[in-house]
Amino acid sequence: MAHAAAETGAGTPYIREVEQAQLHPLWDRYKRITPMQPRPADTPYHWRWRVTEQFLHRAVSEVPIEEIERRALIMSHPCFGDETATTGTLLGAFTVLDPGEQARPHRHTGAAIRFATQADGAATIVNGRWCEMKAGDLILTPPMAWHGHINPSQNRIIWFDAANMPLLRGLNAHFFEPGDPRNEDFWKVDEGDERRWRAAGLAMANAPTGQPSSPKYRYPGEVTRQMLSEMPAGPDGARLIRYINPETGGAVMSTLDCYAMRLDKGVVTRPKRGAYSQICLVVSGQGRSHIGDKVFEWSRHDVFTIPSWSWASHEAISGDADLFIVSDKVVFEKLDVLREEMQ
Ligand SMILES: [Fe+2]
Repeated sequence: MAHAAAETGAGTPYIREVEQAQLHPLWDRYKRITPMQPRPADTPYHWRWRVTEQFLHRAVSEVPIEEIERRALIMSHPCFGDETATTGTLLGAFTVLDPGEQARPHRHTGAAIRFATQADGAATIVNGRWCEMKAGDLILTPPMAWHGHINPSQNRIIWFDAANMPLLRGLNAHFFEPGDPRNEDFWKVDEGDERRWRAAGLAMANAPTGQPSSPKYRYPGEVTRQMLSEMPAGPDGARLIRYINPETGGAVMSTLDCYAMRLDKGVVTRPKRGAYSQICLVVSGQGRSHIGDKVFEWSRHDVFTIPSWSWASHEAISGDADLFIVSDKVVFEKLDVLREEMQ
């Protein structure tokens, strides 16, 4: 130690005086400042649906919707304490709405999505468009898009949410604007311009191009499932679809990226890792994932995370299984710092 201290000068009068002047010597801090590889604060984590579900049902009787912004329970990783985050950059949650309930309009710079798990009959209104929420539908609420939710059906509705508030807060770039909860006109809309984006591969020739967020807000689950069943598996053994912005071919939004994965029974996917974080929702089936040094046995509507630079391999047990994956991968792509590896 004496030798190391002599080398770095740690604890010497010089270093103490430097620190008092709010200066740090790079030579004894560089390992922290420039790590050899990502060191995520979070570990892989698993939330079981059978636990989450009970608390969602209880929330309906305990928390009146009129008094709150959203009746959602956020998957909160213990390593982030009171920060309320699922991964370092992302939030995952479930929202519950009883028949006749509305979640008031608002907008924010955070990018968000809903994935309909048990939401048939509910709708999300996005920038004046009525977006149905049938099983497996993905609904985007891009940055600063006005959005609210409504359940005109006779059933209790639950859907999965994801958003990137931890990332936006880390950048100090989060703005939030409440809407008018008494504005009934907000809900009196139809499908609107969403009709233009029903067909894959077709766009109006004179439409603006290159918008950072997809002009298509609703991605029907029916189409996703059809494509998953007809496409071949990728090099890792999983069938993987990226939801894309039809104007650019890139991710659906600049700061949030969505994927659908089908795991064929009996196939163990080759371990992959990427320098970005992922939240996985089990859409259907049962399976097992090895993530870092953890093994998760999962079933329908469980949620688990893959922290940055953690090896992850998945397999379906007792039939095929579908995962919905939301990640911040596109952020790293846009910053030109994306790294991925496969074994
Ligand atoms: Fe929102």
